[in-house]
Amino acid sequence: MLTLERVSKVYRVGTFGTQPLNAVRDVSLTVPPGAVVSLIGESGSGKSTIGRMVLRLTSVTSGTIAFDGRNVAGLNGHRARKEYYRHVQGVFQDPFSCFNPIFPVDRVFELLRGEYFAATPDTEWRASMRRSIERVSLDPGQVLGRYPHQLSGGQLQRLLIARALMLDIRLLVADEIISMLDASTRIDVLNLLGDLREEGLGILFVTHDLSLGTYVSDTTVILRRGRIAETGPTGEVFASPRHPYTRGLLASVPRMHRTWAEADAELDAETGPCPVHDSAGSEHPADPVEVGAGHFVGCFSNDTCPE
Ligand SMILES: Nc1ncnc2c1ncn2[C@@H]1O[C@H](COP(=O)(O)OP(=O)(O)OP(=O)(O)O)[C@@H](O)[C@H]1O
Ligand SMILES: [Mg+2]
Repeated sequence: MLTLERVSKVYRVGTFGTQPLNAVRDVSLTVPPGAVVSLIGESGSGKSTIGRMVLRLTSVTSGTIAFDGRNVAGLNGHRARKEYYRHVQGVFQDPFSCFNPIFPVDRVFELLRGEYFAATPDTEWRASMRRSIERVSLDPGQVLGRYPHQLSGGQLQRLLIARALMLDIRLLVADEIISMLDASTRIDVLNLLGDLREEGLGILFVTHDLSLGTYVSDTTVILRRGRIAETGPTGEVFASPRHPYTRGLLASVPRMHRTWAEADAELDAETGPCPVHDSAGSEHPADPVEVGAGHFVGCFSNDTCPE
């Protein structure tokens, strides 16, 4: 369904926009229908940039993003884009920022109505709105007509998912959607994602929290400095991590926030040979190398290897 092939993103930064910043490098991945793919990495590793490229909110520098075989970058024109967003939607970290505090929460649905349901009669529209709100385990009577400050972060986040569900959505990009929620609300939202996956939705689940990866995902992608350090079936990556970066992280999940930096520093200090690199001879393998069924590992010393 969604396929990224050697996707890279270079931002231009600095006073005159002349300095290149390689935010995403040669990332390839697939999100099939009914699968959750977790994109895990520390702050600045390029997770949101990947999500934003998939949602066409930022351009792709090189490589291809395809949805059902069609290059997403080539969707020019209002109609093609509208069709794309009918199937592909994003939900982000801060639900409060998506709601205008001076309007009742219903307004986020109204915005969708103008674009996709202009011809739908009022009663039908309200019935379908209520149905999608019920699908995310909220009571329409409790939330409609309320203002954003009268609802919790978890309720607002679920409303945003409900809004996406009003469309014929097939892929959801969920970027840190539970980071701002408390523990029990997190589980509710994760369970909701699990239910939606059962219904065939593909989910690109972006998180910096390694411990959440196992909870929902089928495939795990570990990003380090814009590159894939390791990827594979979630059970396999967590049970037998092959990249020292992943190993370092998993060894100390409870101390996660400190260990991103520690694992990174340890790897930088490591001068030993990189088996992935060695297996490819003297050539630096740009793509991760397969070490098991569907389990790929990137070069250990990616940043120091000559390109
Ligand atoms: N619009 C932009 N212009 C220039 N640089 C950017 C832009 N957006 C992101 N970056 C840079 O690209 C890199 C990747 O950023 P990105 O937001 O994708 O990281 P992230 O993995 O989502 O991090 P976080 O966990 O903090 O959300 C960072 O170095 C960031 O500073
Ligand atoms: Mg981000």
